Amino acid sequence: MSGNNTDVFQSAKEILMNGRERWDQDAACGIAVSLRGVCNRFGDRVVHENLDLDIRQGEILGLIGESGSGKSVLLRSILGLRPPDAGRVVIMGLDMNKAGEKEKNAARRRWGVLFQDGALFSSLSVEDNAAFPLREFTRLSPPLQREIAHLKLFLAGLPASAYGKFPGELSGGMRKRAGLARALVMDPDILFLDEPTAGLDPLSAAAFDRLILTLRADLRLTVCLVTHDLDTLYTVCDRVAVLAGKRICATGDIASLTRLDHPWIQEYFNGPRGRAASASAARGRLSDQEARRDRVPAVAGG
Ligand SMILES: Nc1ncnc2c1ncn2[C@@H]1O[C@H](COP(=O)(O)OP(=O)(O)OP(=O)(O)O)[C@@H](O)[C@H]1O
Ligand SMILES: [Mg+2]
Repeated sequence: MSGNNTDVFQSAKEILMNGRERWDQDAACGIAVSLRGVCNRFGDRVVHENLDLDIRQGEILGLIGESGSGKSVLLRSILGLRPPDAGRVVIMGLDMNKAGEKEKNAARRRWGVLFQDGALFSSLSVEDNAAFPLREFTRLSPPLQREIAHLKLFLAGLPASAYGKFPGELSGGMRKRAGLARALVMDPDILFLDEPTAGLDPLSAAAFDRLILTLRADLRLTVCLVTHDLDTLYTVCDRVAVLAGKRICATGDIASLTRLDHPWIQEYFNGPRGRAASASAARGRLSDQEARRDRVPAVAGG
Protein backbone atom coordinates (compact mmCIF):
# COMPACT_ATOMS: atom_id res chain seq x y z
CA MET A 1 0.00 0.00 0.00
CA SER A 2 1.46 3.41 -0.93
CA GLY A 3 2.02 6.12 1.68
CA ASN A 4 -0.82 8.09 0.14
CA ASN A 5 -3.19 5.13 0.48
CA THR A 6 -2.13 4.66 4.09
CA ASP A 7 -3.14 8.28 4.80
CA VAL A 8 -6.45 7.75 3.05
CA PHE A 9 -7.20 4.62 5.06
CA GLN A 10 -6.16 6.39 8.26
CA SER A 11 -8.61 9.23 7.62
CA ALA A 12 -11.33 6.71 6.71
CA LYS A 13 -10.64 4.90 9.96
CA GLU A 14 -11.01 8.15 11.91
CA ILE A 15 -14.39 8.79 10.28
CA LEU A 16 -15.52 5.24 11.05
CA MET A 17 -14.36 5.53 14.66
CA ASN A 18 -16.08 8.88 15.21
CA GLY A 19 -18.05 8.98 18.47
CA ARG A 20 -16.90 5.62 19.79
CA GLU A 21 -14.93 6.82 22.82
CA ARG A 22 -17.96 6.91 25.11
CA TRP A 23 -18.89 3.39 24.15
CA ASP A 24 -15.50 2.12 25.06
CA GLN A 25 -15.80 3.60 28.55
CA ASP A 26 -19.28 2.13 28.96
CA ALA A 27 -18.13 -1.23 27.75
CA ALA A 28 -15.36 -1.45 30.33
CA CYS A 29 -17.49 -4.01 32.19
CA GLY A 30 -16.52 -6.58 29.56
CA ILE A 31 -20.03 -7.43 28.43
CA ALA A 32 -20.71 -6.62 24.79
CA VAL A 33 -24.41 -7.50 24.76
CA SER A 34 -26.72 -7.99 27.71
CA LEU A 35 -30.34 -9.16 27.45
CA ARG A 36 -32.63 -9.16 30.46
CA GLY A 37 -36.23 -10.35 30.60
CA VAL A 38 -36.65 -10.30 26.83
CA CYS A 39 -40.11 -11.34 25.58
CA ASN A 40 -41.20 -11.75 21.97
CA ARG A 41 -44.53 -12.92 20.65
CA PHE A 42 -46.38 -13.04 17.36
CA GLY A 43 -50.09 -12.96 18.16
CA ASP A 44 -50.70 -15.90 20.50
CA ARG A 45 -47.35 -17.49 19.69
CA VAL A 46 -44.86 -16.70 22.47
CA VAL A 47 -41.32 -17.14 21.13
CA HIS A 48 -39.27 -15.75 24.05
CA GLU A 49 -40.29 -15.28 27.65
CA ASN A 50 -38.05 -13.61 30.25
CA LEU A 51 -34.95 -14.46 28.29
CA ASP A 52 -31.54 -13.45 29.74
CA LEU A 53 -28.21 -13.63 27.91
CA ASP A 54 -24.76 -12.03 28.16
CA ILE A 55 -22.25 -11.97 25.32
CA ARG A 56 -18.76 -11.24 26.63
CA GLN A 57 -16.41 -8.95 24.80
CA GLY A 58 -13.96 -10.77 22.57
CA GLU A 59 -15.66 -14.14 22.75
CA ILE A 60 -17.21 -16.26 20.04
CA LEU A 61 -20.57 -17.29 21.42
CA GLY A 62 -22.55 -19.99 19.63
CA LEU A 63 -26.34 -19.79 19.85
CA ILE A 64 -28.11 -23.10 19.32
CA GLY A 65 -31.66 -24.33 19.59
CA GLU A 66 -34.04 -26.39 17.53
CA SER A 67 -35.45 -25.02 14.31
CA GLY A 68 -38.20 -22.49 15.07
CA SER A 69 -37.03 -21.95 18.67
CA GLY A 70 -36.45 -18.27 17.92
CA LYS A 71 -32.72 -17.78 17.25
CA SER A 72 -33.18 -15.49 14.25
CA VAL A 73 -35.96 -13.55 15.99
CA LEU A 74 -33.60 -13.04 18.93
CA LEU A 75 -30.89 -11.64 16.65
CA ARG A 76 -33.44 -9.28 15.11
CA SER A 77 -34.41 -8.14 18.61
CA ILE A 78 -30.79 -7.49 19.57
CA LEU A 79 -30.24 -5.52 16.38
CA GLY A 80 -33.39 -3.44 16.90
CA LEU A 81 -34.91 -4.67 13.64
CA ARG A 82 -37.81 -6.01 15.67
CA PRO A 83 -37.52 -4.51 19.15
CA PRO A 84 -38.62 -6.97 21.85
CA ASP A 85 -42.17 -6.76 23.21
CA ALA A 86 -40.65 -6.49 26.70
CA GLY A 87 -37.23 -6.57 28.34
CA ARG A 88 -33.89 -4.78 28.08
CA VAL A 89 -31.25 -4.95 25.37
CA VAL A 90 -27.95 -3.27 26.28
CA ILE A 91 -25.19 -3.23 23.66
CA MET A 92 -21.73 -2.00 24.68
CA GLY A 93 -23.31 -0.09 27.55
CA LEU A 94 -26.08 1.50 25.47
CA ASP A 95 -29.61 0.69 26.66
CA MET A 96 -31.52 0.38 23.39
CA ASN A 97 -34.86 1.18 25.10
CA LYS A 98 -33.59 4.53 26.31
CA ALA A 99 -31.32 5.48 23.42
CA GLY A 100 -32.38 8.22 21.02
CA GLU A 101 -32.27 7.79 17.24
CA LYS A 102 -28.84 9.45 17.01
CA GLU A 103 -27.32 7.05 19.55
CA LYS A 104 -28.97 4.07 17.90
CA ASN A 105 -27.55 5.11 14.55
CA ALA A 106 -24.10 5.35 16.11
CA ALA A 107 -24.69 1.88 17.56
CA ARG A 108 -25.64 0.45 14.19
CA ARG A 109 -22.19 1.37 12.89
CA ARG A 110 -20.61 -0.80 15.52
CA TRP A 111 -21.96 -4.16 14.50
CA GLY A 112 -21.96 -6.18 11.33
CA VAL A 113 -24.54 -8.80 10.42
CA LEU A 114 -24.55 -11.77 8.11
CA PHE A 115 -28.23 -12.73 7.79
CA GLN A 116 -29.38 -16.33 7.47
CA ASP A 117 -30.43 -15.83 3.84
CA GLY A 118 -27.42 -13.66 2.92
CA ALA A 119 -29.73 -10.71 2.20
CA LEU A 120 -27.52 -9.29 -0.56
CA PHE A 121 -29.14 -6.84 -2.95
CA SER A 122 -29.58 -8.80 -6.16
CA SER A 123 -29.44 -5.67 -8.34
CA LEU A 124 -26.09 -4.52 -6.92
CA SER A 125 -22.68 -5.93 -7.80
CA VAL A 126 -20.69 -7.70 -5.09
CA GLU A 127 -18.48 -4.63 -4.53
CA ASP A 128 -21.51 -2.32 -4.32
CA ASN A 129 -23.16 -4.70 -1.86
CA ALA A 130 -20.02 -4.72 0.29
CA ALA A 131 -19.73 -0.91 0.12
CA PHE A 132 -23.42 -0.33 0.87
CA PRO A 133 -23.08 0.45 4.63
CA LEU A 134 -20.32 2.97 3.84
CA ARG A 135 -22.71 4.70 1.45
CA GLU A 136 -25.45 4.68 4.09
CA PHE A 137 -23.46 5.69 7.15
CA THR A 138 -20.45 7.72 5.99
CA ARG A 139 -19.49 10.55 3.71
CA LEU A 140 -16.43 8.79 2.36
CA SER A 141 -15.85 9.42 -1.33
CA PRO A 142 -17.09 6.69 -3.72
CA PRO A 143 -13.53 5.69 -4.77
CA LEU A 144 -12.54 5.30 -1.11
CA GLN A 145 -15.72 3.34 -0.39
CA ARG A 146 -14.77 1.01 -3.23
CA GLU A 147 -11.20 0.61 -1.95
CA ILE A 148 -12.40 -0.28 1.54
CA ALA A 149 -14.98 -2.69 0.09
CA HIS A 150 -12.23 -4.39 -1.94
CA LEU A 151 -10.09 -4.72 1.18
CA LYS A 152 -12.94 -6.43 3.06
CA LEU A 153 -13.82 -8.66 0.09
CA PHE A 154 -10.17 -9.69 0.02
CA LEU A 155 -10.23 -10.36 3.79
CA ALA A 156 -13.37 -12.45 3.34
CA GLY A 157 -11.50 -14.55 0.79
CA LEU A 158 -13.25 -13.55 -2.44
CA PRO A 159 -11.18 -13.44 -5.63
CA ALA A 160 -11.01 -10.07 -7.42
CA SER A 161 -12.80 -11.65 -10.39
CA ALA A 162 -15.97 -11.82 -8.26
CA TYR A 163 -16.09 -8.14 -7.26
CA GLY A 164 -17.97 -6.97 -10.38
CA LYS A 165 -20.40 -9.91 -10.44
CA PHE A 166 -23.98 -9.93 -9.21
CA PRO A 167 -25.08 -12.19 -6.32
CA GLY A 168 -27.05 -14.41 -8.71
CA GLU A 169 -23.80 -15.24 -10.53
CA LEU A 170 -22.02 -16.51 -7.38
CA SER A 171 -21.99 -19.88 -5.63
CA GLY A 172 -23.61 -20.12 -2.18
CA GLY A 173 -20.20 -20.07 -0.48
CA MET A 174 -19.12 -16.97 -2.38
CA ARG A 175 -22.38 -15.21 -1.50
CA LYS A 176 -21.69 -15.96 2.19
CA ARG A 177 -18.22 -14.45 1.82
CA ALA A 178 -19.66 -11.36 0.10
CA GLY A 179 -22.18 -11.05 2.97
CA LEU A 180 -19.32 -11.37 5.45
CA ALA A 181 -17.36 -8.63 3.65
CA ARG A 182 -20.40 -6.36 3.92
CA ALA A 183 -20.75 -7.21 7.61
CA LEU A 184 -17.08 -6.24 8.14
CA VAL A 185 -16.98 -3.11 6.02
CA MET A 186 -17.65 -0.65 8.89
CA ASP A 187 -14.92 -2.20 11.07
CA PRO A 188 -17.49 -3.49 13.57
CA ASP A 189 -16.80 -4.43 17.17
CA ILE A 190 -19.45 -7.12 17.15
CA LEU A 191 -20.27 -9.55 14.37
CA PHE A 192 -23.59 -11.40 14.26
CA LEU A 193 -23.65 -14.43 11.99
CA ASP A 194 -26.86 -16.37 11.37
CA GLU A 195 -26.08 -19.85 10.04
CA PRO A 196 -22.91 -18.82 8.19
CA THR A 197 -21.97 -22.35 7.11
CA ALA A 198 -25.45 -23.68 6.26
CA GLY A 199 -25.54 -25.12 2.76
CA LEU A 200 -21.76 -25.12 2.33
CA ASP A 201 -19.83 -28.27 1.47
CA PRO A 202 -17.69 -29.54 4.39
CA LEU A 203 -14.42 -28.12 3.04
CA SER A 204 -15.93 -24.67 2.42
CA ALA A 205 -17.58 -24.76 5.85
CA ALA A 206 -14.24 -25.63 7.50
CA ALA A 207 -12.55 -22.79 5.56
CA PHE A 208 -15.26 -20.41 6.75
CA ASP A 209 -14.71 -21.55 10.36
CA ARG A 210 -10.97 -20.85 10.05
CA LEU A 211 -11.76 -17.45 8.53
CA ILE A 212 -13.94 -16.51 11.52
CA LEU A 213 -11.15 -17.49 13.93
CA THR A 214 -8.62 -15.47 11.94
CA LEU A 215 -10.88 -12.43 11.81
CA ARG A 216 -11.53 -12.58 15.53
CA ALA A 217 -7.80 -12.74 16.21
CA ASP A 218 -6.86 -10.00 13.73
CA LEU A 219 -9.75 -7.59 14.25
CA ARG A 220 -10.44 -8.37 17.95
CA LEU A 221 -14.12 -8.96 17.26
CA THR A 222 -16.86 -10.21 19.51
CA VAL A 223 -18.85 -12.79 17.56
CA CYS A 224 -22.37 -14.13 18.11
CA LEU A 225 -22.87 -17.11 15.86
CA VAL A 226 -26.19 -18.90 15.31
CA THR A 227 -25.52 -22.35 13.95
CA HIS A 228 -26.74 -25.92 13.61
CA ASP A 229 -23.25 -26.94 12.51
CA LEU A 230 -21.68 -29.05 15.26
CA ASP A 231 -18.24 -28.88 13.66
CA THR A 232 -18.42 -25.09 13.77
CA LEU A 233 -19.43 -25.18 17.44
CA TYR A 234 -16.50 -27.39 18.37
CA THR A 235 -14.00 -25.55 16.18
CA VAL A 236 -14.70 -21.88 16.81
CA CYS A 237 -16.96 -21.24 19.82
CA ASP A 238 -15.64 -20.29 23.27
CA ARG A 239 -19.09 -20.72 24.81
CA VAL A 240 -22.45 -21.95 23.63
CA ALA A 241 -25.89 -20.65 24.68
CA VAL A 242 -28.84 -23.03 24.36
CA LEU A 243 -32.25 -21.59 23.45
CA ALA A 244 -34.98 -23.99 24.57
CA GLY A 245 -38.36 -23.52 26.25
CA LYS A 246 -38.46 -19.82 25.20
CA ARG A 247 -35.34 -18.99 27.28
CA ILE A 248 -31.59 -19.43 27.28
CA CYS A 249 -31.66 -22.58 29.40
CA ALA A 250 -27.88 -23.07 29.62
CA THR A 251 -24.64 -21.31 28.70
CA GLY A 252 -21.10 -22.61 28.93
CA ASP A 253 -18.32 -24.38 27.11
CA ILE A 254 -19.31 -27.59 25.37
CA ALA A 255 -17.67 -29.82 28.00
CA SER A 256 -19.80 -28.28 30.76
CA LEU A 257 -22.97 -28.38 28.65
CA THR A 258 -22.57 -32.08 27.93
CA ARG A 259 -22.58 -32.76 31.68
CA LEU A 260 -26.02 -31.17 32.11
CA ASP A 261 -29.02 -33.39 32.65
CA HIS A 262 -31.12 -31.80 29.90
CA PRO A 263 -32.72 -34.13 27.33
CA TRP A 264 -32.34 -31.84 24.30
CA ILE A 265 -28.73 -30.92 25.15
CA GLN A 266 -27.86 -34.57 25.77
CA GLU A 267 -29.40 -35.63 22.46
CA TYR A 268 -27.73 -32.74 20.64
CA PHE A 269 -24.16 -33.29 21.84
CA ASN A 270 -24.21 -36.98 22.67
CA GLY A 271 -26.28 -38.18 19.70
CA PRO A 272 -24.45 -39.76 16.73
CA ARG A 273 -23.74 -36.45 14.96
CA GLY A 274 -22.56 -34.76 18.17
CA ARG A 275 -20.19 -37.65 18.95
CA ALA A 276 -18.78 -37.57 15.40
CA ALA A 277 -18.16 -33.80 15.63
CA SER A 278 -16.53 -34.23 19.05
CA ALA A 279 -14.21 -36.97 17.75
CA SER A 280 -13.32 -34.89 14.72
CA ALA A 281 -12.57 -31.85 16.93
CA ALA A 282 -10.37 -34.01 19.18
CA ARG A 283 -8.46 -35.23 16.10
CA GLY A 284 -8.06 -31.58 14.99
CA ARG A 285 -6.73 -30.58 18.41
CA LEU A 286 -4.31 -33.49 18.34
CA SER A 287 -2.96 -32.56 14.92
CA ASP A 288 -2.63 -28.92 16.09
CA GLN A 289 -0.60 -30.13 19.05
CA GLU A 290 1.52 -32.28 16.75
CA ALA A 291 2.06 -29.35 14.41
CA ARG A 292 3.12 -27.14 17.35
CA ARG A 293 5.42 -29.86 18.71
CA ASP A 294 6.98 -30.23 15.26
CA ARG A 295 7.70 -26.50 15.24
CA VAL A 296 9.52 -26.59 18.62
CA PRO A 297 13.24 -26.35 17.85
CA ALA A 298 15.28 -29.35 18.97
CA VAL A 299 17.28 -28.73 22.16
CA ALA A 300 20.98 -28.98 21.43
CA GLY A 301 22.54 -31.94 23.15
CA GLY A 302 19.08 -33.08 24.41
N1 LIG B 1 -42.57 -12.08 11.15
C1 LIG B 1 -43.08 -13.13 11.80
N2 LIG B 1 -44.41 -13.28 11.96
C2 LIG B 1 -44.91 -14.34 12.62
N3 LIG B 1 -44.17 -15.32 13.17
C3 LIG B 1 -42.83 -15.24 13.01
C4 LIG B 1 -42.21 -14.15 12.33
N4 LIG B 1 -40.88 -14.33 12.37
C5 LIG B 1 -40.67 -15.48 13.03
N5 LIG B 1 -41.85 -16.03 13.42
C6 LIG B 1 -41.99 -17.25 14.18
O1 LIG B 1 -41.12 -17.22 15.28
C7 LIG B 1 -40.60 -18.52 15.54
C8 LIG B 1 -39.10 -18.47 15.62
O2 LIG B 1 -38.59 -18.23 14.33
P1 LIG B 1 -37.05 -18.09 14.03
O3 LIG B 1 -36.90 -17.77 12.59
O4 LIG B 1 -36.42 -17.18 15.00
O5 LIG B 1 -36.53 -19.58 14.33
P2 LIG B 1 -35.04 -20.14 14.27
O6 LIG B 1 -34.71 -20.67 15.63
O7 LIG B 1 -34.13 -19.09 13.71
O8 LIG B 1 -35.20 -21.37 13.28
P3 LIG B 1 -34.17 -21.95 12.17
O9 LIG B 1 -33.16 -22.75 12.94
O10 LIG B 1 -35.01 -22.81 11.31
O11 LIG B 1 -33.56 -20.80 11.42
C9 LIG B 1 -41.15 -19.43 14.45
O12 LIG B 1 -42.27 -20.11 14.96
C10 LIG B 1 -41.56 -18.46 13.37
O13 LIG B 1 -42.62 -18.99 12.63
MG1 LIG C 1 -33.09 -18.89 11.93
